[in-house]
Amino acid sequence: MKIVPLGNSSLRSSCLAYGCWRVAGSWNPAEVTPATEAAGRTAILTAYEAGYTLFDNADIYCRGRAEEILGRVLREVSGMRERVLLATKCGIRSAGDPHPQSPQRWDFSGDYIVSACEASLRRLGVETIDLLMLHRPDYLADPHEIAGAFVQLHDAGKVRAFGVSNFRPSLVRALQAACPLPLLVNQVEISLAQRAALEDGTLDQCLELAITPMAWSPLAGGVGRRRSAAVAQPAGVSDASGFGSAG
Ligand SMILES: NC(=O)c1ccc[n+]([C@@H]2O[C@H](COP(=O)([O-])OP(=O)(O)OC[C@H]3O[C@@H](n4cnc5c(N)ncnc54)[C@H](OP(=O)(O)O)[C@@H]3O)[C@@H](O)[C@H]2O)c1
Repeated sequence: MKIVPLGNSSLRSSCLAYGCWRVAGSWNPAEVTPATEAAGRTAILTAYEAGYTLFDNADIYCRGRAEEILGRVLREVSGMRERVLLATKCGIRSAGDPHPQSPQRWDFSGDYIVSACEASLRRLGVETIDLLMLHRPDYLADPHEIAGAFVQLHDAGKVRAFGVSNFRPSLVRALQAACPLPLLVNQVEISLAQRAALEDGTLDQCLELAITPMAWSPLAGGVGRRRSAAVAQPAGVSDASGFGSAG
């Protein structure tokens, strides 16, 4: 597997990242069974054995269960933690968090970024996250407040490096101007079915600022296959993957 640097940093990873979005088998923690969890652990282990050394996760993937499943594999496989980079994302709060009436929303307040990161550390069972990304833009965010949270987490040894996800170029520039730590990654949707990042300046900015673009859903989530299957299926049978598009 080809090895690439993340940004201009000393962090090195396989050029393919293993995305842990689907490792719990569902978005809903109540639907996770020993069998779906075992399948997820097998998938992670298979990726590791195939040479993947970058594992991408997020606190919202199955409400933390995806991080717990990855954490379990890390404990079970001797030496794996030292050989891989752990990436995760924060900033999306589920409906009902923290109060039953709270809506789903984006929250880049400094206190929330710190507490979300600490919760991810607990679920992964590690002391340091290698790459923490902001999941989707919170348009009410203050870049200086985000930068303060990043510096706090970095200085406490809880996060080695930072990145963003789904950020347009002007937002990357605003955050980087406020942040003394380099943004190493912008994780964006790139596939044959989603080519906007090639034309809207996102990839040009990655070249300009030495930000590593990380493609999410690079195979478009199998959308072509699903369409073909839907045509081939008898009426009334639909895709039962249970995954939405907010990954
Ligand atoms: N930052 C974000 O906002 C965001 C959003 C979404 C995802 N992500 C990240 O990106 C990672 C990858 O996303 P993804 O899982 O959607 O990636 P993907 O590789 O585009 O899609 C994987 C899915 O597509 C199916 N598939 C793809 N190509 C296929 C083919 N040629 N034939 C049959 N099936 C095919 C796979 O089926 P099988 O399961 O049968 O193999 C699987 O269900 C996630 O795990 C997550 O880490 C980030």
